[in-house]
Amino acid sequence: MSNILVVDDEMGVRESLHVFLTSEGHTIDTASNGREAMNLIENKIYDLVLTDMTMPEMDGMTLLKEIKDKLKERTSVIILTADGSVQKAVSAVREGALDFIVKPFEINRLREAVDNALQRERKMLMAELQRRDLETAHLKQLNQKLDRTVFELSILHEIGKTINSTLEINKIVSIILEMARQTVNADRATLVLYHPETREIKLQLCYSPHDNNGSEELNLTDRRAIQWVTLNKQPLFLEDVQKSALFQQYLGNTEKLGSMMTVPFKRKNQVLGAIVLSTQGGQNRFAAEDLFFITTLANQASIAIENAQLYTDLQEYFADTIRALVAAVEAKDTYTFGHSSRVTQYSMLIADRLEIDPVEKRRLEYLALLHDIGKIGIDEKILRKSSKLNSEEWDLIRNHSTIGGSIIKPIKFLPSGETVIRHHHERFNGSGYPDGLRGEEIPLFSRVIAVADSFDAMTSLRPYRDTMKTDEAILELRRCSGEQFDPKLVDLFINAFIEDERS
Ligand SMILES: [Fe+2]
Repeated sequence: MSNILVVDDEMGVRESLHVFLTSEGHTIDTASNGREAMNLIENKIYDLVLTDMTMPEMDGMTLLKEIKDKLKERTSVIILTADGSVQKAVSAVREGALDFIVKPFEINRLREAVDNALQRERKMLMAELQRRDLETAHLKQLNQKLDRTVFELSILHEIGKTINSTLEINKIVSIILEMARQTVNADRATLVLYHPETREIKLQLCYSPHDNNGSEELNLTDRRAIQWVTLNKQPLFLEDVQKSALFQQYLGNTEKLGSMMTVPFKRKNQVLGAIVLSTQGGQNRFAAEDLFFITTLANQASIAIENAQLYTDLQEYFADTIRALVAAVEAKDTYTFGHSSRVTQYSMLIADRLEIDPVEKRRLEYLALLHDIGKIGIDEKILRKSSKLNSEEWDLIRNHSTIGGSIIKPIKFLPSGETVIRHHHERFNGSGYPDGLRGEEIPLFSRVIAVADSFDAMTSLRPYRDTMKTDEAILELRRCSGEQFDPKLVDLFINAFIEDERS
């Protein structure tokens, strides 16, 4: 059923058309001139307008032009013309009318003209709907792309923030691998870093569907893909591994693999490592956007990895310098040779049970090594003296913790190091030196070093007394627990020491 508007100044024509077209199943409105017709058209959509040419107020030609101006192609117009004015009707067709019918109407010709017009109308409508469907699908695709881009950018931003906030290489690589795996929905994910000099694999994390801890071994395919990208210094992308010639001759047994991509981490044309991602089975496939994302991620990660490696090197140089310094101190007093290393070792036993993070643990390690660094400023004669020290000499020796604190103060690597060293001879009950701090006023690391320091002093050779056996030293620690030492740390140390001895 279509909406048709009949426009003619002759009532007889309007009525006869109304009757006929209604009987054909259409809905009909009528108007007696162009003006009336335009009023109706303003408020209702018509599929077809049948109009006379000569009418008062607004003739058919003007009405046709207005319809074409306002509605473009949406409404078809058929001209009704008297036998004598066919020429005018032809002009109207040139102006955009679809057809003309000569009055009086021959019924079949009228039906044919109306049906043709409505069919054309329907075709145009279908084409319009199809165009809109296509537009909607395209828009949906663009939206999906936009969503994905926004998601990837937010992931890259998050990763950037996290990896640039730490210099811990293990943390950086685990974040990178986890984010990469999740974003591209990989079934297996591997990350390797090379040792800068030996070029052997230095660090490896590998997740598979069977192992969610990252401890899976590298397989042959991983190794070969890593070799390939290291050699070629570019990513390897296989959308369908089974159709790849490369896998047959190079990658080995990859029967279960679907897609695979391997991207190198590069700095100044040197390959630092690589990330290998793969899917299993035929359903889940990587797309070109996935490779673009992982490559961007790898570029960002390369900078962070290089920084972390430089920082690790710097820390190693720093540790070497510390060891040299400690050796210089210990050389002043033959009895304390190896003391700082053992105090460090005991402090680490406690640190393992304190569950402190790796950066803090490293800080404690350096501070334990350096705890007696202040002895560098004490006269060797006093340090080596085997007879009893007088009170003046004791005062000088006690100064070593304050001197040590001052030496450590400028070292930026060891924040709060000064206070830790300064207070390593404080006692839990407040009777220690230099400031008589008590309980938890004493920094935690100073309390740890105090336990480790005393245990080693008791169990190693000293000029003024016999060496204690470890069980006697343990009893002594227990006896002084709560007075000289933090009782919790004494318990932790003794348990850790006994466990360590047994293993
Ligand atoms: Fe000391």
